[in-house]
Amino acid sequence: MAKNVTARIRNRQIVSRLHAGDEHAIAAAYNQAGDKYEAYADGDLQDPNSFQGQYAYGDRRIWAVLDDKLRTLCSKGARSIRILDLGCGPGTWLCRLVTRAWALGFTSITARGIDIADEQVRRAQTRSRNLAALGGVSLDFEIGDICTRLPEADESIDLCVCLYGVLNHIPRDRLPRVLAEVARVTCGDFVTAVRAVGSTPTIFVDAVEEARWFWYDRRASRLEAELQNGRRISFDFRLFGAAELKALAAAYFELKDLRGLDLFHGRFAGDRRWNPPSSVVSAQFAGELERLEELYCRDAEFVDHATHLLLEAAPRKRGAAVDNPKMTCVNSTLRLRLSDRCAHAASASPPEARDVNRQP
Ligand SMILES: C[S@@+](CC[C@H](N)C(=O)[O-])C[C@H]1O[C@@H](n2cnc3c(N)ncnc32)[C@H](O)[C@@H]1O
Repeated sequence: MAKNVTARIRNRQIVSRLHAGDEHAIAAAYNQAGDKYEAYADGDLQDPNSFQGQYAYGDRRIWAVLDDKLRTLCSKGARSIRILDLGCGPGTWLCRLVTRAWALGFTSITARGIDIADEQVRRAQTRSRNLAALGGVSLDFEIGDICTRLPEADESIDLCVCLYGVLNHIPRDRLPRVLAEVARVTCGDFVTAVRAVGSTPTIFVDAVEEARWFWYDRRASRLEAELQNGRRISFDFRLFGAAELKALAAAYFELKDLRGLDLFHGRFAGDRRWNPPSSVVSAQFAGELERLEELYCRDAEFVDHATHLLLEAAPRKRGAAVDNPKMTCVNSTLRLRLSDRCAHAASASPPEARDVNRQP
């Protein structure tokens, strides 16, 4: 029995090595998830701004940040905006952004979402038809790999988003180039959310209880799972520590904020399938959780235990020196401290920054 288990694990490790870097497996997994992915990730499909899904707390925090960025641009007199969504999935976030920008009075909105999962891109195209037909709106969803050079011109994007786990799927050795490319095309802000190293288990494409079994090979950064419907998924993903994310981004961006999303809500929410109704959180308890989230979301001891990490950044000015990342955060409330190892990783990265114009 023990021998069988060892053999199975060894086989999986071999499969893992063979598949490493296989973006087709990632695309296939999200394609097969179909509509269910959107319901799992974004909640109510009829009302995408109701923020009632499994990640409601994180969604609301991200939306507050993005909404603020649109309002700030608007208050500065901007009436034209260009938005890029990397790994847009079914397009929920880009549609939210375009809808809001239009409501705020932007008269020229150019928005593009790309994703390697063609079925999800098709879903985004279908759902956005009415939005794309609004006057002044140019909204496109395209199949594309964020590991390749982006067609956008230098410093042409006012807001670039890459939300919920996209960067978790990018092999470690490709991340600097992806971030360099984002920094090249962005003149405004970059907002990304990644799954944190201390988060609870996930199978990414659906709720974890939809898996008969799952297995995460941490060394190979590969997830294997079998869903209740018998479908198998197997793809690359790696989890991020806050210090690591900060060190990676600091080579290309001035960091504005880095915080944990959902340290407490997901764990304390109560599960209606299991807990008695009396243990499902009251409004008062939810309010208290919110207070705790704000208290600990930037605390070095807690941040890696969040479900996601939310990073806000602006590209470094061309030719600007990369300082010690401890000094680069413009948000004075950020209490993270990098380990020596991560500081070293950041200082080893700048040569990549000079590669931004080279074809990956
Ligand atoms: C967890 S989903 C998030 C989707 C969307 N950003 C959202 O928040 O709803 C991750 C997405 O990243 C996409 N993805 C993974 N690797 C990619 C790559 N190299 N280029 C483009 N998209 C990628 C997947 O196809 C998937 O749609």
